[in-house]
Amino acid sequence: MATPELVPGLAGIPAAESSISYIDGQKGLLAYRGYSIEELAEKSNFEEVSRLLVHGELPTPEEHERFSALLRENRGLSERMLDVIRALPGNGHPMDALQASMAALGMFSRARDYRDPAQRDEAIVRIIGAMPVLVAAFERFRSGEDFIPPDPSLDTAANFLWMLTGEKPDPLAARVLDVALILHADHTMNASTFTARVVGSTEADPFTVVASAVGSLTGPLHGGANERVLRDLETVSGVEEVPDFVEGRLATKGKLMGFGHRVYKVKDPRAVILQGLARELFEKLGRTPLYDVAVRLEEEVVSRLGHKGIHPNVDFYSGFVYSKLGIPVDDFTPIFAIARTSGWLAHWREQMQDNRIFRPGQVYSGEHGRSYVPIDQR
Ligand code: CMC
Repeated sequence: MATPELVPGLAGIPAAESSISYIDGQKGLLAYRGYSIEELAEKSNFEEVSRLLVHGELPTPEEHERFSALLRENRGLSERMLDVIRALPGNGHPMDALQASMAALGMFSRARDYRDPAQRDEAIVRIIGAMPVLVAAFERFRSGEDFIPPDPSLDTAANFLWMLTGEKPDPLAARVLDVALILHADHTMNASTFTARVVGSTEADPFTVVASAVGSLTGPLHGGANERVLRDLETVSGVEEVPDFVEGRLATKGKLMGFGHRVYKVKDPRAVILQGLARELFEKLGRTPLYDVAVRLEEEVVSRLGHKGIHPNVDFYSGFVYSKLGIPVDDFTPIFAIARTSGWLAHWREQMQDNRIFRPGQVYSGEHGRSYVPIDQR
């Protein structure tokens, strides 16, 4: 049999059949279960979108209320679980803390039979409900503060902001975060979703599936980019420095973080929505030089690299939005993880409905038929 041709990064190779989300990278379209991201961002909310992703349909009022109530009931962490998070090194990265605490949460959960669809759905609400609480708990402990218990009157976004600060969030801030969560909730076969499906295909438990996907999301080419964007921009002191910054990065063959995408060859539709939210937020809470630098940077990069299909992606504007909400820079990627958990678990559920373990091939480039040489003769 002829050796199949290797496709680096599996670019364009379908890894699963899925009905969860859809991208048209030439037209800049993204839809969840057939609903455009623009319409969901304007009219829906993260909890409803999570249910849509997992179950495939917009919920009836009763289904929505039940799903939201389940998420809220599943926010609780035991004292021992909080002790685990408290014991994690406060100078470590919050994504590592999240990965460790998700694995630990699985250890505290009764062993289940995840071939049973009802037990799968129970795990899904437990994990989506607990995820923001794990992030907020680590943030409080590493700042030397007490844990703030979740407030069941608040939805996922507002409750997360409440648990970070203990202050009732400004309605615009809560809505902006809610929209950011909607925008990050799923995105076809990206690296972390692929990770979730691969780990799930071994029939590993869903806590392990999500902990593995969190690990995959940490890298700067994936979710870690949102943190890098802000760190980069903090090194540029004004709009006039932008051309030199871009030149310097390209001269060293470095990547401009927050730009480029494997699938989109036009501006990422999520970046368009986030840019609008950033504008609204900065108008209400005050404009900073960082915003002007970002707008100038987009102009400069697109004028130089737009012909290669390089435009801002979702990570470019999300960092500005989160920094304006007062969220620490290294919590940006954990927020991405909070949102993407719904997508990961929707894919896990889909994978489990018709599972076959992932076991791809490879193109072998090593040697054959060598004879072992004893160590004293090498
Ligand atoms: N800055 C400068 N050049 C770039 C960039 C960039 N951000 N992205 C792509 N290129 C160039 C790349 O150097 C290559 O040029 P050439 O053909 O001359 O060698 C060409 O564009 C194709 O790039 P690639 O790296 O082969 O594209 P890819 O599909 O393998 O990678 C990517 C996609 C997102 C990893 C890449 O664009 C990148 O590293 N971007 C910066 C990191 C980033 O913002 N990641 C977030 C992605 S969106 C949300 C998420 O998934 O988390």
